[in-house]
Amino acid sequence: MALGSEGRDGFTSRFGIVCAAAGSAIGLGNIWRFPYVVGESGGGAFLLIYLAFVLMLGIPVMLSEFVIGRKAKRNAYGAFRKIAPGTWWPLVGVIGIVAAFVILAFYSTIAGWTLHYVYLSVANSFKGLGALEVTSVFEAFQTSGGLPLMWQMIFILLTAVIVLSGVKKGIEKYSKILMPFLVLLLISLSVRAITLPGSMGGLHFLFNPDFSKINAAVILGALGQAFFSLSIGMGALITYASYFPDRTNLSATSFQVSIADVLIAILAGVAIFPAMFALGMQPEEGGPGLIFMVLPNVFQAMPGGYLVAVAFFVLLAIAALTSSISIMEVVVAFLSEELNIKRKSATLITVIASAFVGMFCTLSWSTFEGVGIGDRNIFDLLDFTASNVLLPLGGLLIVVFVGWYMKQQAVRDELTNMGVLKLVVFMIGWYTKDERTEEDRARFRAIRIRIYAVFMFIVRFIAPIAIAIIFLNAIGLIRI
Ligand code: PHE
Repeated sequence: MALGSEGRDGFTSRFGIVCAAAGSAIGLGNIWRFPYVVGESGGGAFLLIYLAFVLMLGIPVMLSEFVIGRKAKRNAYGAFRKIAPGTWWPLVGVIGIVAAFVILAFYSTIAGWTLHYVYLSVANSFKGLGALEVTSVFEAFQTSGGLPLMWQMIFILLTAVIVLSGVKKGIEKYSKILMPFLVLLLISLSVRAITLPGSMGGLHFLFNPDFSKINAAVILGALGQAFFSLSIGMGALITYASYFPDRTNLSATSFQVSIADVLIAILAGVAIFPAMFALGMQPEEGGPGLIFMVLPNVFQAMPGGYLVAVAFFVLLAIAALTSSISIMEVVVAFLSEELNIKRKSATLITVIASAFVGMFCTLSWSTFEGVGIGDRNIFDLLDFTASNVLLPLGGLLIVVFVGWYMKQQAVRDELTNMGVLKLVVFMIGWYTKDERTEEDRARFRAIRIRIYAVFMFIVRFIAPIAIAIIFLNAIGLIRI
């Protein structure tokens, strides 16, 4: 296992780093949440706003988390304590830890459903069923209480096992190999979906913006979806970046991860909406059960559908695992580094606490049916609180921290890898007495500094103001 400068566990290969960060980002957020939120929020116009948010706000927040994490080499709370000792800033880490709990609770509900669907597809349970029957299979399961609860607990335990085996062995190994397969499967599902008769309305829904459907709540929803899907705003990527080596190119990594994340979400949309239209379902109908009610129909209409179904749900469960380990790691790293609890006990505490809260989410459609606010049940409320409130709030504070609190030289050093590079360039010059060294260094700097200026402008002004306006607008304090 590679040890960082302070004897911490760390990532080794460049590919492994991108994969681990991408493994955190790519998960149920793209494949389960994105399609149903797009469906409820009116389609194409939502997609456009979401893309704009990823580009203008998401990538800068992600990069800010990388900067904080690699600079401090600490967990989400400890990072703020190290860079800003004696201030209130570590509270941002506390928000992140609370968000991690809440997300783990409802995330494991859906991941549990996914595990059950692995089982159902192995048992070939959908064979010969029509669309209505596929829907009733899902609803019977969702409202049954005990069964989804069992799968949820299995998923939480699986997450804990990987978290326990440590960063490199656990996280890097699993992320690396499997994600490309998921992409291939999604592509084949999309192809099948758009060749179903009557499917074109789905593409139209997804790609033709109808701005009359946009309001303040939808805009906040797009921000929440962007943050949730990119794993930002709660310190998961601060924690991961704390294991990055000094040579990692932070800005390139943030671009690669975000673009992969967006592409996979769009692919999931292209697999789902055409299929819904072909089945005669309304896009806003699905709710959290959407993919579980739609995709079994697509599998049935495919050659080799049995194997595709099994592979799809297995890979989706793995994608969910590579995300949930990054969520659990936020809490475990905090407990073990800040409170000096052994990693084992820290994981155990996290498992028990999140299983407890998670139970309420899973039972939202059975035991606790009807408990909630307005038409949101417990599950919806926790999802809303984490995705649309805690993550944007965390993201806002994170960019303000990097833009206004951190020493600008430190930020610049992280972004340009200057601390290390200067030394390398100096050493090369020293050994080779190469005339071009100075010039090379200047060119290198110039490229980076342009990115730096844009980044700084966004984290200081654009991102904080935009996030604040979206919030205030959504709670009705201002009207835009
Ligand atoms: N981004 C993950 C997904 O799309 C979920 C996640 C959210 C992970 C926040 C970490 C932090 O599934």
